[in-house]
Amino acid sequence: MTMPSRWPAVLQAVMKGQPQALADDDYPRWHLAPVTGLMNDPNGFIWFAGRYHLFYQWNPLGCDHRYKCWGHWSSADLVQWQHEPMALMPDEEYDRNGCYSGSAVDDQGVLTLCYTGNVKFDDGSRTAWQCLAVQNETGGFDKLGPVLALPEGYTGHVRDPKVWQHEGHWYMVLGAQDLQKRGKVLLYQSADLRSWQPRGEIAGHGVNGLQNAGYMWECPDLFELDGTHVLICCPQGLAREPHRYLNTYPATWMHRDFRYDPATFTHGELQELDAGFEFYAPQTTLAADGRRILIGWMGVPDGEEMLQPTRENGWIHQMTCPRELHFREGKLWQTPVQELQQLRQTEHSWQGSADNAPLLDATRLEFELRADAPVKVNFANTLWLSLDEKGIRLERKSLHNDDMLTRYWQGKVTSLRVLCDSSSVEIFVNEGEGVMSSRYFPHHPAQIGFEGASAITLRYWSLRASM
Ligand code: FRU
Repeated sequence: MTMPSRWPAVLQAVMKGQPQALADDDYPRWHLAPVTGLMNDPNGFIWFAGRYHLFYQWNPLGCDHRYKCWGHWSSADLVQWQHEPMALMPDEEYDRNGCYSGSAVDDQGVLTLCYTGNVKFDDGSRTAWQCLAVQNETGGFDKLGPVLALPEGYTGHVRDPKVWQHEGHWYMVLGAQDLQKRGKVLLYQSADLRSWQPRGEIAGHGVNGLQNAGYMWECPDLFELDGTHVLICCPQGLAREPHRYLNTYPATWMHRDFRYDPATFTHGELQELDAGFEFYAPQTTLAADGRRILIGWMGVPDGEEMLQPTRENGWIHQMTCPRELHFREGKLWQTPVQELQQLRQTEHSWQGSADNAPLLDATRLEFELRADAPVKVNFANTLWLSLDEKGIRLERKSLHNDDMLTRYWQGKVTSLRVLCDSSSVEIFVNEGEGVMSSRYFPHHPAQIGFEGASAITLRYWSLRASM
């Protein structure tokens, strides 16, 4: 199905939908979210000509996964974002079932988008074209069309180009599924972004001895960080384990040594990037000052998303906050970018037994918590965090059937830093050793309480709205 009546339909959806979304108590006040419709992956994250640009998978016409366009925001500081003209709509034969995920590069001063044109056929099969679009003087994008067809040996699931430059050459990683239905990451090389040569499979099932690695890998991102190479990707079909990979699909990472010639990536184990209920398809970019910054989709495909209550108000999903990445002690650390401290209002601190702690207004809040003994944080009777010597348990009710669902972070916890918006929490463990990102849908005004006999130390700030 191609998109009906294009621009007029989109304009009407935005004009009608935006007031309703903004009036929703669950609508984020300092995170990025769609003004109407469904938003999923962050795309094309780049620092270009003095501003950050973040594009996103967007169905402006409804809260389902159809008609994927690329929406576009820009920002000077990762805090205050402005809307830019919509960048891509699925209006060509080669992208008729969606302008799927991809990345942005600076090609000799021209902001250039690399994305997947997704094409579905009546028999249920599909194909994929890797495509380019370049920014024009109005700020919009002109499509240049496909530059890479489906390679032989793979199903129609080949997508999500992440492109970068190294020593005068362009490189691209793609998520893929081979004909035996096993997930892979493919590497390509190009001199001009227009013509691409395959350099082989660099990760996935059967590569480097990896087994049981799922049936499709989405949204790969390969980069150098603090003396190692990190590959982030989203394998679909990993077996659930007692304490990890509990979402429908996880976002994972691996690291070690990437060589360009011959192209090889040797790596250790797959690890989960975020242990919360909602996190998927993250993308990173380099800031002007060299920091590696990540933004993720605070959602998961095919899970409970279609039961989220914001759909009644015509919008669904949000991004995570931007996070700075570091590699240390064999781990990938994530911390909220320092720019977010601009949102902090007056600082408060409190010490005493958790049971006597003040209730905090959960709507826009950052707090740091240290505890001597087990403690429980109650997010508006909707989400519960239990902290003890084993680590963290995060619990909430299933939207399907009221069953209690649990996510885990295991290890010694010395501190928690929690960033809350109207319907989301991001829990940073031990200054970024672990993260749990989750949506929750409390009754508003929502309050956060602390429970237990443990002595705790709190520092907290109410956050100003930036959206
Ligand atoms: C990940 C994903 C990508 C695809 C996009 C479509 O969430 O499935 O693989 O390009 O979403 O919206």
